[in-house]
Amino acid sequence: MSEQEIGNEVIVLDTVGSTNKEAADRLALSQLAHGTVILAHEQTEGRGQRGRNWISRAHQDLTFSVAVLPKHMKAGEAFALAKLSALAVADVVAPKVLGETRVKWPNDVLVDRRKIAGILIKTEVVGGMVQSAIIGIGLNVNSRELDEAYLPTSLSMETGQEHDRMVLLKELCSALDRRWKQLTAQPVAIRSDYSDRLWSVGRWCDFELDGQPFSGRPLDVDPEGRLLVESQTGQVVAYGLDRLRFAAR
Ligand code: BTN
Repeated sequence: MSEQEIGNEVIVLDTVGSTNKEAADRLALSQLAHGTVILAHEQTEGRGQRGRNWISRAHQDLTFSVAVLPKHMKAGEAFALAKLSALAVADVVAPKVLGETRVKWPNDVLVDRRKIAGILIKTEVVGGMVQSAIIGIGLNVNSRELDEAYLPTSLSMETGQEHDRMVLLKELCSALDRRWKQLTAQPVAIRSDYSDRLWSVGRWCDFELDGQPFSGRPLDVDPEGRLLVESQTGQVVAYGLDRLRFAAR
């Protein structure tokens, strides 16, 4: 068994604006080795997808970022990072909860219909190749008072017990490491595991397409990470995040 690459080095900070920003600043100064994790017990300016904030409770939830330095990843293959990180979170969450753990495209992790984790990935591309990426993960662990508007949940709400965040972090690093290695050794398995975990496949869903309401049935993702959606006319089109998003629930 080869040595664990992800989580070999863990930098623990008490308070920081955003672990993603902290990781980006350190990466810019070439201060982060591949697989280094930056964890903050408190994030004061957590960033979410589409410019939103990510709210987490200090010392209650997990907020951390992982720096990865891929060796041969083309920019067009970067969606693999979203797949592997969502799958790794799902690998850790699924055995602990009774509800169904699913990945909502592109990389939210849900238990039943509720979001338990969000992932924000920033890539640095040079000459068409991914030089580095920061995988930022927010997992609701022991929080119980969450903003109902986002249909959230936490591990403790799902299991009825408190969880040790640092034990969970170790499990997440091992899962990320396993999935990272699988990306090279068995890329097909990552693709099919992601498809199998995809939320709402074959069900009619409300989307926003180019800012307009749209009803469609997700079928799968294509190799670039675009969602394949069947419209009511039966036409199947691959949409990227630039055009399509799930409507607010
Ligand atoms: C989402 O909107 O679903 C993505 C949320 C990502 C939150 C994590 S918490 C750790 C890392 N640092 C940030 O500022 N954001 C990510």
